[in-house]
Amino acid sequence: MNATPDDSPRKRAEYLRQQLDYHNYRYFVLDDPEVSDAEYDRMMQELIELENRFPELAASDSPTTRVGSAPLAKFETISHSVPMLSLDKGFDESDIMAFDQRVRRGLKTEADVLYTVEPKMDGVAVELVYREGRLETASTRGDGYTGELITPNIRTIPSVPLRLRRDSDISVPSLLEVRGEVFMETADFKQLNQWRMENDLPLFANPRNASAGSLRQLDSKITAKRPLRIFVYGIGLVEGLQFSYHAETLEFLAKLGFPINPRVRYRISADDAVAYYRDLDAERMELPYEIDGIVMKVDWYAYHERLGTTSRSPRWAVAIKFAALQERTRVKDIVVQVGRTGALTPVALLEPVNIGGVTVSRASLHNEDEVVKKDVRIGDEVLVQRAGDVIPEIVKVMDSLRDGSEKPFEMPSACPVCGADAVRIEDEAITRCINKNCPAQLKGNIRHFASKGGFDIDGLGTKLIDQLVDKKLVSSLADIFRLDVATLQGLERMGQKSAQNLVNAIADSRCIGFSRFLYALGIRHVGEYVAKLLGARYADVDELAQAGREELERIEGLGPVVAESIAEFFSRRENLESIRALQDLGVQIVSEKTEFRSQPLAGKTFVLTGTLAGVTRNRAREKIESAGGKVSGSVSSKTDYVVAGQSPGSKLDKARRVGVRVLDEDELRRVLAEAGVSF
Ligand code: IVH
Repeated sequence: MNATPDDSPRKRAEYLRQQLDYHNYRYFVLDDPEVSDAEYDRMMQELIELENRFPELAASDSPTTRVGSAPLAKFETISHSVPMLSLDKGFDESDIMAFDQRVRRGLKTEADVLYTVEPKMDGVAVELVYREGRLETASTRGDGYTGELITPNIRTIPSVPLRLRRDSDISVPSLLEVRGEVFMETADFKQLNQWRMENDLPLFANPRNASAGSLRQLDSKITAKRPLRIFVYGIGLVEGLQFSYHAETLEFLAKLGFPINPRVRYRISADDAVAYYRDLDAERMELPYEIDGIVMKVDWYAYHERLGTTSRSPRWAVAIKFAALQERTRVKDIVVQVGRTGALTPVALLEPVNIGGVTVSRASLHNEDEVVKKDVRIGDEVLVQRAGDVIPEIVKVMDSLRDGSEKPFEMPSACPVCGADAVRIEDEAITRCINKNCPAQLKGNIRHFASKGGFDIDGLGTKLIDQLVDKKLVSSLADIFRLDVATLQGLERMGQKSAQNLVNAIADSRCIGFSRFLYALGIRHVGEYVAKLLGARYADVDELAQAGREELERIEGLGPVVAESIAEFFSRRENLESIRALQDLGVQIVSEKTEFRSQPLAGKTFVLTGTLAGVTRNRAREKIESAGGKVSGSVSSKTDYVVAGQSPGSKLDKARRVGVRVLDEDELRRVLAEAGVSF
């Protein structure tokens, strides 16, 4: 870290705060970091030490305070200076046109009205109050008039500015109330729940509940550990500044450092709002967060005044919801599937039903207790829900529609695949097949091994795995690396070309990071999160195998159940032998232990475009990152290299225009080889 011009501790602390605020903004708001995590951590560490050494330098809006503060005894309440109203609702495209008509009638105008349209985030509404550019209080919406003060919790959210950015061309208002929605991305939510499951904690039902639960913590240190985000969408009271248009407000908020949803469309006609609604609905399942519709707002504030509000909601805005992702159907049967851990999972086979454009014909029932709790019987009418990209679930049974012919489900006492005993251990919800060599377990293990988070072997899908196991061509994980073109070619739907492609993909997958390798092994309770923790701490299998339960338990983020499971896995000779067999067949496990990793590409930014012939883009990204480089999605003056594969996109044109160095695949290999990474 460079020295500040005047190296007094006070100046230094202020300099570090400015730097940290700026880099935090680049990372969490713009999603375009300029420094490595390690550099950021070093600055943070230096600031923490400074503030410890000179307590008089501590500031309430220092980035060091984001870790949370002393727990509260209870939440105080606060009244909102401008009520936080709710929105009128519509349910389809016709409600968009009806809203537009109402607005024009209210304004007595024939002219087109311009709207700003936004995704309706499914999270928790909050208000942030800034005085003289500093975050003073933050509260929940509550009943719209009074909310709960949750300032310490909101301060832990990395994308919430603690101080507003002061660019030379904007003046910061003396009072600014900002409104927005706190939410959790679906992937973060799943990881949080995975971690909670691994640590025997109750699961959150959905990302919104997880966000609400996290904001309702009296201990903000807990909130700080939750992956919360915010998008802001409006203002309350403002002093010292006036806006004329909603779009202008959002633009101004963005300049002050607030995250605005990049999917907002500014100043469009009602017809275009219909197209927007359609497009967003189609895109909905691929978004990284959950939304339940769009919000459509008249853009010009002069019109807001003319239209006014009712006691509940403004006449200048409306929420148009998407079709519910719940439908009613009938349970035709309940069958049992055997997974890779031998767990018997009851699955409801449904009368096929279209939910939000996707035909659903099965729903997981998780385990025996779940079936009992929901009291799902064969023949029942049920409500089925699809959310995010998770497996559809039965929300509830319409038991008033029963006619007495419904049959309760019974967990079998033998494995439906191999016939061995299926037992349920006391205290566990899960019934398992006791046969270690059950083909269902092997199939599940191979699927997991070859999956994206593991060896990521393209072309080794479920149907093929079933054939390989059923024909006894594969009876262990290591056997995958013994497959050759001749063997594969004889299988259903396997020509010579696809057989060769698969053999190549298998060969390419052999060089693998330690954490992916651990994940691929399918150790109970070791998901991607735990695997990463282990990979950062242990250099290789031998080091980890020697760790033992007690040492593992001391790792932050690992509970006793997980530690026990890992220790037990590595204490078994057959597991170590199977790892050895993989290595003998050419599997190379690359250490990711943090202190070991050299970072020759630190500070270098790469952009990938087009198809690379010998490696997937994901893997190329990993290789670059493992040498300390960064991969960004768009070309800017900060880009060091653009890697162009076949049929590159506009990024290549941009690279040429901006004068960024362009690498082909071989040149990328060379740059990486020089950095000590091969693929
Ligand atoms: S504007 C008076 N914009 O929807 C206008 N609200 O029923 C107030 N919400 O509680 C809200 N995304 O939590 C607005 N882009 C967005 C929104 C949004 C989600 C929520 C908000 C509010 C509820 C309104």
